[in-house]
Amino acid sequence: MHRFATLVVLVVAPLALTGVLRAAGEPPAWAYAIAPPAAPGAAAAPAAAPDMSLKTVPGSTLRVTLPEVRGVNGAGPADWFPGDHPVMPEVVARGRAPAVRPCSLCHYPNGKGRPENAGVSGLPVSYFIQQMNDFRAGLRKAGDPRKANTEAMAAIAKGMTPEEIKQSAEYFGAMKWTPWIRVVETRTVPKTVISPLGMYLRLEGNETEPIGMRIIETPEDVERTEELRDPRSGFIAYAPVGSVKKGEALVTSGGNGRTVACGLCHGADLQGSGPVPGIGGRSPSYLVRQMYEMQVGARRGEWSDLMKPVVAKLTDEDYVNIAAYVSSRAPQSIATK
Ligand code: HEC
Ligand code: HEC
Repeated sequence: MHRFATLVVLVVAPLALTGVLRAAGEPPAWAYAIAPPAAPGAAAAPAAAPDMSLKTVPGSTLRVTLPEVRGVNGAGPADWFPGDHPVMPEVVARGRAPAVRPCSLCHYPNGKGRPENAGVSGLPVSYFIQQMNDFRAGLRKAGDPRKANTEAMAAIAKGMTPEEIKQSAEYFGAMKWTPWIRVVETRTVPKTVISPLGMYLRLEGNETEPIGMRIIETPEDVERTEELRDPRSGFIAYAPVGSVKKGEALVTSGGNGRTVACGLCHGADLQGSGPVPGIGGRSPSYLVRQMYEMQVGARRGEWSDLMKPVVAKLTDEDYVNIAAYVSSRAPQSIATK
């Protein structure tokens, strides 16, 4: 008994301190970015008068109010850069009330998406359709039940017709995935708060904190992302020093049986192969949520079995290292493309 306790202190405590160990089945908290519950009495604060001034973003000729950024009276969310994408199908631009909210609101008209949802452009059409059917069948659920927007996504999929699913898959599939997230290795990160929807937002001032075993994905420009939903303003993913290199070993060789080399199925450049989706250069938070959900069986779609041997043995630290490397592999960094 006594010896066992000593062992726990000696072996487990240092691991727990460095964030390597997580209780079995516990989601990697950084990837879910669950906002703390609102402080009691917060709702009682008087609502400020809505800002109805006209806003714009760099490079756009559009001038709209903040409510119009998100879409009012069925008009659909603001499309800052119509020239950046093909003509949106109705379901992407405006959705179909009440069940189908416009894809362009959360995933943006160019399909780049945000850490709390997913990048959906450049996905193979057959993969995209399969995912919508998996959402409809209840085979894709959040690994943390507090992540409400995954349920919102499932409800949207359930409300769609096969024709709408096909149109949206073809629309987003016609656009290539291009650089959107900048991976930066660091020992400290800016202090952040988590927005109600699940995104790290830099606090004003220059305070920092140790990064620990986490990736912190935050907008390059908080106002352009959070207020204005500017689809040209991307993200920084702060990652621990050395993580990209450690991830490279796991991703390219499987790390001596710890996992399976990703390029076999996702393409040598990780930009996808046939019906298998691209993962290179995409949101590390999103990628890790998916791997964790496949590990614990919350995501168990028609094709998820192929990922089982890949994720079976992964630890929190593996997730961080793999995601740091994979997210740093944006298409631009591949010489032949
Ligand atoms: C309210 C916000 C919201 C809206 C609106 C929305 N989505 Fe999503 N979508 C999400 C979230 C959140 C996820 C990822 C959840 C997770 O982490 O698993 C997601 C994931 C997806 C994925 C999975 C991507 C992948 O790589 O597997 C697809 C495909 C998708 N959405 C398509 C659509 C389409 C098509 C529409 C419009 C009809 C739409 N979404 C509207 C929030 C939204
Ligand atoms: C044997 C083939 C295979 C290998 C090897 C493989 N994958 Fe996958 N991966 C898939 C398939 C198929 C899917 C789609 C699963 C589904 O539809 O549920 C997928 C999906 C994913 C997803 C979710 C993508 C999305 O858009 O939601 C991630 C993340 C992922 N893989 C990461 C990896 C990583 C990282 C590696 C290497 C460490 C890897 N995969 C190795 C076949 C593979």
